[in-house]
Amino acid sequence: MQLLDGKLASQAIKDDLKIKVEELKKQGNKVPHLAAVLVGNNGASETYVASKVKSCEEIGFKSTLLHLENNVSEEELLEVIHKLNYDKDVDGILMQLPMPKHISEEKIINLIDPAKDVDGFHPVSVGKMVLGSETFISATPYGILLLLHHYNIKTKGKHAVVIGRSNIVGRPISILLSRNDDTGNCTVTLCHSHTKNLKEICLQADIIIAALGKPGFLKADMVKQDVVIIDVGITRVSDASKKSGYTLKGDVDFENVSSMCSYITPVPGGVGPMTIAALLMNTYKACCENHSPLSPEGGNKKDYGGDGELNIVH
Ligand code: GUN
Repeated sequence: MQLLDGKLASQAIKDDLKIKVEELKKQGNKVPHLAAVLVGNNGASETYVASKVKSCEEIGFKSTLLHLENNVSEEELLEVIHKLNYDKDVDGILMQLPMPKHISEEKIINLIDPAKDVDGFHPVSVGKMVLGSETFISATPYGILLLLHHYNIKTKGKHAVVIGRSNIVGRPISILLSRNDDTGNCTVTLCHSHTKNLKEICLQADIIIAALGKPGFLKADMVKQDVVIIDVGITRVSDASKKSGYTLKGDVDFENVSSMCSYITPVPGGVGPMTIAALLMNTYKACCENHSPLSPEGGNKKDYGGDGELNIVH
């Protein structure tokens, strides 16, 4: 069994991006700028966003954290996104999910300029991803592909079983693994809460992506020998012995499953750091594309008009 070390793989990506930032600076170009928007006081979200901002600093990206009160109105939040869309210095916009119930995530995500959609959540990005066109691939699925690539794990012809159909992870990774390209060509089974015979399906899997958010769900009797397991779950479980009062648990019963695997991700330290590395790669790409001398107005494809109306020119 080999651990898929996300810390190690993400560090290699960050080191590479750091060199690229130095190059940009030497050439007199702007450095990538990520704007992260966080609403309210969800402890896990605060930690994730802080890690994203810290990683930006580490590699020389500019970052802005907009931390808004839990009771911010949808209208105010839309205005914040509108301003970030308009701000030529901002390359990537990240809206940390989940948002408070009174805010429509769909409305907010749909307003993000697809050219700055480094989370790959906008319908334009998702549609292009499905079609196999060049676009921003959302950070967690992209991070998983980068991790498989880092460890030279081939996907072609493999049976991949994805457990969980969320818009953020399960559904996109199932599509990506089925695409006709170097990181795809799997036969994919997407399982969810209504799947019958889940155990039998998992027993046929060469690769399992566990992304359902139930700690310790995937047990040793559900997997075959030498399976590759990517554990996306990261749930805070109460633990009085810890100073923080909780411990982080993945969706896989690691203790009993890991010895059966050829490769498995640890939690924490597997998919989490790769998600950040993928986000940074997307932000670098956004910066290069939006400020390329070849793109209209040095990459500013938008005409916001003079009346404050958002008007994206395709
Ligand atoms: N919440 C959980 N995962 C993610 C992610 O990848 N991006 C954002 N914006 N929010 C999340």
